[in-house]
Amino acid sequence: MRTAEDFNSYYATPDPWHISRARFRDRVLRRCLNRFVRGKLVLELGCGEGHLTEAVFYKARSVVGVDISDVAIGRARSLNLPNARFENADLLQISFNGYDVIAAIECIQYLSHQEQGAFLEKVAREHAGKILLLSGPIVDYQRHFSHRRLMLEFKTLGFALVTSRNLSVLWYTRSLRIVAEIIKLPLGYVLLDWLPEWMIYQRLYVLRAPKRDG
Ligand SMILES: C[S@@+](CC[C@H](N)C(=O)[O-])C[C@H]1O[C@@H](n2cnc3c(N)ncnc32)[C@H](O)[C@@H]1O
Repeated sequence: MRTAEDFNSYYATPDPWHISRARFRDRVLRRCLNRFVRGKLVLELGCGEGHLTEAVFYKARSVVGVDISDVAIGRARSLNLPNARFENADLLQISFNGYDVIAAIECIQYLSHQEQGAFLEKVAREHAGKILLLSGPIVDYQRHFSHRRLMLEFKTLGFALVTSRNLSVLWYTRSLRIVAEIIKLPLGYVLLDWLPEWMIYQRLYVLRAPKRDG
């Protein structure tokens, strides 16, 4: 796991991942998530500076945004969002009880594989039968998710896959960058879920945590 100091040093400059420019990702997320989020109590893990809280979770009844970086949380608070409050904490150290939806968008990949497993077990225990929104880079190298490993872990722990959506395309070569531009054209997003696996960078999973026995 990276530490609070590591993330604070990223946040020395505002918007270190250029998230405010990821409008295409915001649109795809909104299109897919509005129905899961509207009127709900949402726990947004790894909320950073509150960009998604404002751009995607504005239809929630209320959002608690949590981030390990106090610098990011300070910026999120200064947005003064009417439906949100923000807390500085490590996502593995807080309670997951009492929410309709837990969102972990682009943050779980910073945990070790063992911590990712502990995270899913905690969701299964404290958020039984409810919705988990999880996304990350699914490229199959060690430091990120692998689609195969995640699906195996979901199955082992009893999570049901409600739906999944590709969020973005890799940009390593010129032809991939062209594809990434094409999908941004009107209706281009329809192509996203038809692209071969090797072209995909980020994927969103909507999951239902296993119900408690009895
Ligand atoms: C790439 S940013 C994503 C921000 C936002 N979720 C988005 O997708 O636009 C990852 C965020 O996760 C936070 N983060 C990483 N590990 C964390 C942890 N263990 N607990 C809480 N937040 C964490 C980082 O501080 C950072 O703000």
